[in-house]
Amino acid sequence: MTQIAATTTEATKPFEPRVVAFVCNWCTYAGADLAGTSRMQYAPNVRIVKLPCTGRIDPLFVVKAFEGGADAVLVSGCHPGDCHYTSGNYHARRRWTIFRKLLDLTGIDPRRLHFSWVSAAEGAKFAHLINDVTAKVRALGPFEPHNPARRRPWR
Ligand code: FES
Repeated sequence: MTQIAATTTEATKPFEPRVVAFVCNWCTYAGADLAGTSRMQYAPNVRIVKLPCTGRIDPLFVVKAFEGGADAVLVSGCHPGDCHYTSGNYHARRRWTIFRKLLDLTGIDPRRLHFSWVSAAEGAKFAHLINDVTAKVRALGPFEPHNPARRRPWR
């Protein structure tokens, strides 16, 4: 009975997008930190995963995020020319251009994958980006995987 009540409550709740953001440590993470310390308001729908550089973000991380319950994924790092590892973001840009074209084959709508450059000084841009991505995903609705049984609950 409790399960039925929980399911009913879950079904009647308005859709709240779940966004996973893979960000580089040096720019976008610092930008997110600036947004927080500046007390800028942005949608609480994002879970940030910090990595050393966007060049380190493997496309499988994105697939795993969707499998793990995300409705959208954001990849963000240093502006071109500002990467702390010289060319990591250039490699990432090339990788994501190709990966985006392959997304359809995996059954994931490419509109659910977002890219951005946010520097450590752009807290306001980070806040705006999260609000924008959340609004776009809210309009798309929840992500429906091919095999819902593999989708894990969001924590
Ligand atoms: Fe930020 Fe490479 S260190 S993208």
